Parts: sequence; C-alpha cells; structure tokens
Amino acid sequence: MHSGVATSTTHPKVLVVGASRGLGEAIVEAYVARGAHVVGTVRSSGTSPLHDFVRRIDGRVEIEHVDITVEQQITSLRSRLDGRVFDLLFVVAGISLAAQDAVGADIDSAAFGRMMETNVLGVMRTVEVLQDLVDPGGTIAVMSSGQGSVAGNTTGGFEVYRATKSALNQMFRSYAVRHARGGRALLLMAPGWVKTSLGGPNAMLEISDSIPPLIDTVDAQHGAPGLRYLDRHGKTVAW
Ligand SMILES: NC(=O)c1ccc[n+]([C@@H]2O[C@H](COP(=O)([O-])OP(=O)(O)OC[C@H]3O[C@@H](n4cnc5c(N)ncnc54)[C@H](OP(=O)(O)O)[C@@H]3O)[C@@H](O)[C@H]2O)c1
Repeated sequence: MHSGVATSTTHPKVLVVGASRGLGEAIVEAYVARGAHVVGTVRSSGTSPLHDFVRRIDGRVEIEHVDITVEQQITSLRSRLDGRVFDLLFVVAGISLAAQDAVGADIDSAAFGRMMETNVLGVMRTVEVLQDLVDPGGTIAVMSSGQGSVAGNTTGGFEVYRATKSALNQMFRSYAVRHARGGRALLLMAPGWVKTSLGGPNAMLEISDSIPPLIDTVDAQHGAPGLRYLDRHGKTVAW
C-alpha cells in the first residue's frame, strides 16, 4: 500500500475525522507527506478539497463518511473500520455559526444547541466509539482551541464558540480520568487563529503556519500517556 515513501512520523496509520477541508484536510496532506497511510472522513459524497487531493496522489488516503452528530453514522463507521489499528485518531470536526456572535439573552437556542451538539457531544461520542481502533500506545487528539481556555478569556467575544471548546476540554478531561491507567497520549490541540472558512479571512495564520508545527507537536507526544492541552508549538495552554 505504501509506495516507497519513507515514513517520518511516529503515527504511520492515521484516522482524521472532519477532513473534507480546512485544517482537517491539511492534516491529511501533512501526514501523507510524512509517509503515513491516512483515512480521512467527509460528510458528503460530493466534491471537497480532500477528494481533490486524493485524486492527485497514489492511494495512501482512503475517504470514509461520517456526520458526527448522527450516532448511527459513527457506529457504522466503527463497524466498517473493524479490525483496523490506527496510531492516531484525530477528531478535527467543528463548527462556528454566525449566530454565535450574539450574547446574553439574544443567543439563539437552536444555534447554541447545534454548536454544542457538534463541538462537544459529537466529538466526544466519536472518541468513545472509535477509541478501540487506536493502538494501546497510540494517540487520541481532538481539535480544541485557545478559545476554550477559561483562564485565558480576558477579552470576551465568540462567547458560544468559546463555551463549546471549554466544555469539550472538560469532557475530554473526564475521559482522561476514566482512562488514567491507559497508555495513550490524549491531546487537546490549539492550532492558533487560522484562515479557513471557520477562522475567516482576518485570521493571523495561514494553514501552512499552523499545521506543520502542530503535527510536529502531535508526533512528539506519541508514547507519552496522559492528557495534555497544547498549542501548535507544544506549549501548555492554561485550562
Ligand atoms: N480556523 C481556526 O482559526 C481554528 C482555531 C481554533 C480551533 N479550530 C478548530 O479546528 C477545527 C477545524 O476547523 P477549520 O478552521 O478547519 O474549519 P472548516 O474549514 O470550517 O472545517 C470544518 C470541518 O469540520 C467538518 N464538520 C463540521 N461539522 C461536522 C459534522 N457534524 N460531522 C463531521 N464533520 C463535520 C467539516 O465538514 P463539511 O465540509 O462536511 O462541512 C469540515 O471538514 C474545528 O474544530 C475548529 O473549531 C479552528
């Protein structure tokens, strides 16, 4: 399956959930460049930057399908991947709806619910259902955000989005407590503010500024069990 490309990663078999575009798609490309075999998930069977990338390369990426807000789709994905072992599960999927700019009593209940359902419950359910596919000494990473830091919230803004990432951090921390004797590295990653459709055009970083150091950091954590909340350079983010 590998085409003579030397592997330069501690995670040669990678599963990226939420890989159609943006940071998730760039993580797929980065791991392929390091010689990994990657399964990347999309929601629709249509076209996406991941589909475009897969057409350009030689078969080291498989496209799978899952909407993380639909429990049955996660369990179906688990069944389809039965018997596979991944060194890294990276759950990247997340949303930020425009309605999140509202504050206080103006927050739209439906938008609040959709963001929590995706960024918190969907991500954690994906981790819970797919965890057994990860090597016992492997890595489970989820894409958090510096905005999830309660201690770091000195400026306000993006209140609902922040709340979803703080809640994600809290639930992943509970997961880590339940698996305290496990051998896996458990990573909450903060990629910086990056120009994607979620980050918007005013973001500070290009994808190429964020993902290479972020992947270096994830790779460096392989084999070190336990929970960390890290920025792309490997610096601990205040909870
Ligand atoms: N960009 C930033 O500045 C920044 C900063 C900190 C953290 N993050 C986090 O990084 C992650 C990726 O963000 P991005 O900037 O790359 O955003 P993006 O370009 O909008 O990509 C979001 C990705 O999540 C997928 N997704 C959304 N809802 C999903 C669902 N219900 N099931 C499965 N996949 C779903 C999307 O798939 P579709 O194509 O099907 O919609 C897409 O692949 C998010 O968790 C985000 O919160 C981003």
